[in-house]
Amino acid sequence: MKESAGSAVPSPPGPKGQRLRNLRERTSDFSEFANRLRHEYGDIVSFELPFMKCCIVFDTELIREVLVTQQPYFRPWFPGDLTDDFKYGSISLHQGEEHRRRSEFMASAFAGDSEGAYAAIIAEKALRLRGRLLSLAGDDGGEGADLVKEFERFAWDAIVEIVLGRDVQLPRRLGEDALDLQKMYLLLDIVPGPKLLKSLPLPTLRRGRKSVKLVDDALYAAMLKARASGYSRNDIVAKYVRAMDLDGAAGGLDTDQAIRDELIILLTAFIDAPTSALAFGVHYLAANPDVRRKVEREADAVLNGGSIDETAFDRLPYTSAVLDEVLRIDPPTPVMLPKEATEDRLLGGYRISEGTLVHVAMRALHHAPEHWDRTSDFRPERWLENPRPPCPAHAYIPFGLGPHFCQGMDIARRLFMFAVAVLAERLRLEPRSAEPPNRNDAAVGVVGPWTADVRERHG
Ligand code: HEM
Repeated sequence: MKESAGSAVPSPPGPKGQRLRNLRERTSDFSEFANRLRHEYGDIVSFELPFMKCCIVFDTELIREVLVTQQPYFRPWFPGDLTDDFKYGSISLHQGEEHRRRSEFMASAFAGDSEGAYAAIIAEKALRLRGRLLSLAGDDGGEGADLVKEFERFAWDAIVEIVLGRDVQLPRRLGEDALDLQKMYLLLDIVPGPKLLKSLPLPTLRRGRKSVKLVDDALYAAMLKARASGYSRNDIVAKYVRAMDLDGAAGGLDTDQAIRDELIILLTAFIDAPTSALAFGVHYLAANPDVRRKVEREADAVLNGGSIDETAFDRLPYTSAVLDEVLRIDPPTPVMLPKEATEDRLLGGYRISEGTLVHVAMRALHHAPEHWDRTSDFRPERWLENPRPPCPAHAYIPFGLGPHFCQGMDIARRLFMFAVAVLAERLRLEPRSAEPPNRNDAAVGVVGPWTADVRERHG
């Protein structure tokens, strides 16, 4: 309908009312909730939450419509107004021409020669992660390590150095507090009276604002350093500042605050996904000793005396297949963050009314029996067989699809592969529970603690 939808067209099937029950189920296990809806109602389902109309899409072609073909009418959802703290928002919230400019610029900042430098940073942080875990190791498993905390710290340290440069120390806690603050704003924006609530002295708000201020100080200091160095630095901040000062704008961003808004989100919001991939990776390797042996053998052959450098990336095909399989079987966003219909639209013959939040069921797509053989088996080999898995490209979308495709994929792949290889070469991580890590159904990734015994490898 426009492909727009007239009022005679029905909404997708789904439970009527039941808002509180839906909220309860959605918050406690979104994947399970989604599976139930699909089982009862089919490939496109509408449901309601307090204050919200929602829809969830399972079918491969309909997912492509939401993310690509009809993408201009399904914009990334953000409740309420952006606060003064984030008034320019981040790339992930914009659409159309503004998004295109920002996206092209960010891609250029991550690409080219700099990729080598970023890979070297990740390799070095992976060695540090191993050093920390080695200090906890023992023949009896040592004192154990909370792997969620360790992997978060690893991803954070790498991303901080990529974005801000070498000489900056920012404790991981600041990133956590800043992200908690953004989540709290989200929560406050969906209940009435947000302005009043935001002025209350809530501990998360107080702590979050203090930490945001410290991260801001580091970002503005990096801008000063970029200028003082004559723009010779290689960090992401320096690339944005150089383009703004010398060309008038960096992907349309033309003030220090606009750059800060873009980069504070880049610093804080993309730690959970690599952490989740690493935690699920350890879970599946421990549960599949044959796969783990192959990863270890590959790491032994590629790592030079236990060390690693940026060139290792292309020599770890099996570890790369392990990542593909982890992201298939347990993607960090089992259900993607919602897109809001900006007008009445027609989707799969149903009317999606303006304002509906449309969810894409990524994990269900990655387990669809029509695309995947033995869908629940963890089998990295499927990525090495010739031809690669016989599914359409848009049936496997761990990094998204369409204009909002992940900007950090190359970094994310290196975070996973370098960490897994350096750890496998020297250590075995044995989770204390056979259960997978706890998914964070309110947002992205996993929640800790998730503890593993740490043993040095003998053979
Ligand atoms: C295993 C790790 C990762 C996975 C699975 C992942 C997945 C995704 C997905 C699914 C999206 C699209 C979201 C949507 O359309 O709603 C996305 C967007 C994005 N990701 Fe990642 N991501 C990962 C790591 C990273 C890292 C490490 C960074 C940066 C350092 C990053 C930066 C971004 C950015 C900036 C966007 C927004 C792009 C846009 O809206 O144009 N990601 N990611």
